[in-house]
Amino acid sequence: MARKKITVVGAGNVGATLVQRLAEMEVGDIVVVDIPEMEGMPAGKALDILESGPVYGYDSKVVGATDYEPTAGSDIVVITAGLPRKPGMSRDDLLKTNANIVKSVTLEAARKSPNSILIIVSNPLDAMCQVALKTSGFPKHRVIGMAGVLDSARMKTFLAEALNVSVDNVQTLVLGGHGDTMVPMTRFCTVAGVPVGELLPQDKLDAIIQRTRDGGAEIVKLLKTGSAYYAPSASVAEMVEAILKDKKKIMPCAAYLEGEYGIEGIFVGVPVKLGARGIEQILQLNLTVNERVALQKSSSAVKELCAALPA
Ligand code: NAI
Ligand code: 2OP
Repeated sequence: MARKKITVVGAGNVGATLVQRLAEMEVGDIVVVDIPEMEGMPAGKALDILESGPVYGYDSKVVGATDYEPTAGSDIVVITAGLPRKPGMSRDDLLKTNANIVKSVTLEAARKSPNSILIIVSNPLDAMCQVALKTSGFPKHRVIGMAGVLDSARMKTFLAEALNVSVDNVQTLVLGGHGDTMVPMTRFCTVAGVPVGELLPQDKLDAIIQRTRDGGAEIVKLLKTGSAYYAPSASVAEMVEAILKDKKKIMPCAAYLEGEYGIEGIFVGVPVKLGARGIEQILQLNLTVNERVALQKSSSAVKELCAALPA
């Protein structure tokens, strides 16, 4: 059976860490691309990761490049190219710069891999998905944003810590845009099947919800020179695996909505089923009035960003 091929655009913190994770998982061969000004950097990181294979015991091939020729025929293209958030900078400050970057890399990558599935990571996430969808001309099920998996993982971490239980016992769901208005859905959060509302008092839950919303900023503040990349790359790797192994795995991802949850024409984080065709289903949960209002508020914030995108 032919090996799967994954392209990672952007060999920075998220991109390079993702390449390492994917190589270790042996889900396919990997090409990592960065800009010509970074000549040697993607090739150097790729070679370094390739040379870890004999120690770690994987046979994944890893190649670095500053052009798109080696990316041709990829099954998945992950876009991590762009500037990360610096202290004091909101995700939204990144809008225009990253929109131009995402537009140019999507054009190149989509031309070389017209049948690929795009996973977008660059921020502001939901707006960058919109740019990738429009630029690639791909059907909506083949353009997917990574955010909900990360935000839900952060919430799982905080809940497991608060209850002193394994993270394996914790289920969480964070929907909406990847920004300050994201919607941690506590009604759908459980620990070994028990609703978290029965395990933690409301003030503790509220603090966890707020820490989840601020999860990206908390890391930026600590790192000072960039943003998170270990948990983000782990989250993308889980999505890549679900697609390449056709796992039909349900996870929260940014998906282009056409009426689902009463939202039209933008990307917002919702529960989706990921499989070989990309987004194979958008799950429609029955939301309470308050949950629906929170999701609408979050989608309005995404809409505002999209309206500010360069033409
Ligand atoms: P980084 O600065 O370490 O790496 C970005 C890389 O992109 C650099 O190597 C840069 O040379 C490259 N790049 C810039 N323009 C490019 C182009 N036209 N073609 C190819 N490569 C290009 O940044 P990091 O930490 O890897 O973050 C990358 C992006 O992912 C940022 O926008 C960040 O905000 C976003 N992010 C999103 C998350 C999410 O949950 N969706 C989580 C973490 C990061
Ligand atoms: C995060 O949530 C920066 O969006 C990125 O860590």
